[in-house]
Amino acid sequence: MLKKKSKALCVPFSEAEQVRRYLKEEQILRMDMKLLKEESCIFFPIMKTQKELPDFPLVIRFFETRTEKVHCYKDLLKIPKKLEGELPTSFDIIGSIILLKLLENLFRYRKQIGQALLKTHPHIRTVCLVDPVAGEHRTRNTIVIAGENRTLTTHTEYGLSFQVDVASAYFSPRLATERKRIAAQVKKGEVVVDLFTGVAPFAIMIARFAKPKAVYAIDKNREAIDLARQNVKLNHVLDIVEVVHADAKDAGKILPVKADRIIMNLPFSAYNFFSMALSIAASECKVHYYDIIREEELEGRIISLQDIAKKQGYSLTQVQIHKIKSYAPREFYIGLDITATTHADVA
Ligand SMILES: C[S@@+](CC[C@H](N)C(=O)[O-])C[C@H]1O[C@@H](n2cnc3c(N)ncnc32)[C@H](O)[C@@H]1O
Repeated sequence: MLKKKSKALCVPFSEAEQVRRYLKEEQILRMDMKLLKEESCIFFPIMKTQKELPDFPLVIRFFETRTEKVHCYKDLLKIPKKLEGELPTSFDIIGSIILLKLLENLFRYRKQIGQALLKTHPHIRTVCLVDPVAGEHRTRNTIVIAGENRTLTTHTEYGLSFQVDVASAYFSPRLATERKRIAAQVKKGEVVVDLFTGVAPFAIMIARFAKPKAVYAIDKNREAIDLARQNVKLNHVLDIVEVVHADAKDAGKILPVKADRIIMNLPFSAYNFFSMALSIAASECKVHYYDIIREEELEGRIISLQDIAKKQGYSLTQVQIHKIKSYAPREFYIGLDITATTHADVA
């Protein structure tokens, strides 16, 4: 137990409460030390002060130190009061990295904010400032603002480990439950194709928690694919998951078999690949289609998907909607669980 020396006031029990209040209000009482009780008096550790002290004996004593737990990073900041309300209340954590989005007027306090987050999150090694995901590879502009200067980390979910470079490959910890939900639907012996696999979290979750015959994990981003290969090895599913660096539009040329299940996690653009996806589908195929869309546009989107399917000789015999998270006011990240069946099989 750590003890520190301090000046102290020795106050009889009968007057202790009144004195404690006064010392606290005047900010003379040391809050980093515990009070010390002896037979008939309490010792109050006090700071150096010009203020008038209550008239009790002034002594030197050793005090146990108090380890003050700071729960919120905001408590450690010294920023203008008017900006306090604009501090982020949540952020994503990938492995040991915090991904932080800041409004422009807080940018000049970024280092202080980063340090405060490191102090209040003991398992965090790096704090990064990020922009929203953008571009074909769905990556984020990333700047390290505190801690170790690195963007590579190991993220764990449901006992699986994923190597993620937050600057060069897409990954969202918020989709963990969704990945598990999909893995739970996969039946023994299925051929699964993950068209936009990133670092392969869907593919690996399926390979580990279900019994597919094979999972093909495709992505156009070379860096994501390198990590996907490492992750497949790391999670011992080399015999089930085949990682392919390719454009999903060429999936038909690459795959040796038709797919029983296709995962299309490319919001905003998955629509453009739907026709191609059905071209690699078995006569009955489940498609997990993800999009970011306004609620009022959803019905129209489903009708368009049905039209595309018709041209490919398929009917969408079932479409189940899952709202995964809100993205912007009235805009949702949605997942559609689609059953596509060839016309011949429907008839
Ligand atoms: C939203 S991320 C999803 C990644 C992964 N499924 C996950 O849940 O973490 C979309 C991925 O699609 C990839 N991508 C974009 N266009 C592609 C294309 N034409 N062919 C293959 N992959 C593509 C991006 O590189 C990115 O990794």
